[in-house]
Amino acid sequence: MTTQADPVTTPLPHSLPALPHTLTGDVLHTHWLPVASAAQVQERGLLGAQLLNEPLVVAWLNGRCEVWQDLCIHRGAKLSLGKVEGGQLHCPYHGWVYAAGGQCVKFPAHPEQTPPARAAARTYRAREAYGLVWVALGEPASELPAFPQWDDASFQKVWCGPYTFRASAPRVVENFLDVAHFPYVHGGLLGTPEMPEIPDYDLAVEGTHITASGIRVYQPDPDGTGVGRYVEYTYRVLGPLSASFDKVSDDGRVFSIFMSVTPVSETLSRAYFAVALNYPGMSDDALREFQDHVASQDLPVVESQWPERLPLDLQAELHLRSDRVAIAYRRMLGMIGMTFGTA
Ligand code: FES
Ligand SMILES: [Fe+2]
Repeated sequence: MTTQADPVTTPLPHSLPALPHTLTGDVLHTHWLPVASAAQVQERGLLGAQLLNEPLVVAWLNGRCEVWQDLCIHRGAKLSLGKVEGGQLHCPYHGWVYAAGGQCVKFPAHPEQTPPARAAARTYRAREAYGLVWVALGEPASELPAFPQWDDASFQKVWCGPYTFRASAPRVVENFLDVAHFPYVHGGLLGTPEMPEIPDYDLAVEGTHITASGIRVYQPDPDGTGVGRYVEYTYRVLGPLSASFDKVSDDGRVFSIFMSVTPVSETLSRAYFAVALNYPGMSDDALREFQDHVASQDLPVVESQWPERLPLDLQAELHLRSDRVAIAYRRMLGMIGMTFGTA
């Protein structure tokens, strides 16, 4: 007579089953990247996300956000379809209960059994900052991108988006850094086709940080108030997929945007935009509406760009003097060995 293995006491597999989406060894694993709004996670308890092809569940457990692989070790169901109750995550399929930290603490079908240590979700490093949840899939090698206005009470801040682009993340960042498209894509707002010239500007490169300053342009409606004026831009590349600008008017008003892009897959991205301004007169809703409109103008053009992956070979596309910041950005991505979303 053969003895049947007891399905309850049979050891669980030592390693997690292989996912259809295999993790690449991309350098982006060493950077903090945004995956969700912290307020949204707190409100809903948990939500699904995807970063660098890796499906994630972001859950609010015991007063903080945790980020795990979106996979139950039992039968591979998506944990993000489950629920958070009593500070624990319940799998939607057979109700396995996971505690903060990822350890399974209960098999409802066998409540007398203590789940072994191996019955645990794969967890990732997660941080909350600037109202977003940030994840590093590997060992982080750099700090979060700087957003000094976030802690500056003289600035009103409003998160916009995230805007979903069927485009590679570096294409989305490069569009953010591009001033020469304003008269054509954002005519009547951020530029006018009658004034397409871009003045020479200063460029400074320090490691992965790039600063382009002294970019003075006329904008018919720089902030949604409908009042045209000259503004001077300073752009900062803060990392491979984060950047910001300060747009300063002659009277000292500062309109800033901090942006960071989630590379969902090589050709799908979600761009988080935080508008920060140091002058009154605009409601959060009005600012969001303005930014939504600007993003809707960018979307079809960026999604049309070919090749989808940003070419890092500088010979692959033509460049003008006004593209110096884009050239520096491509060089930096090449220098750090970025392969995800680049060609
Ligand atoms: S797949 Fe999660 S409890 Fe069975
Ligand atoms: Fe644009």
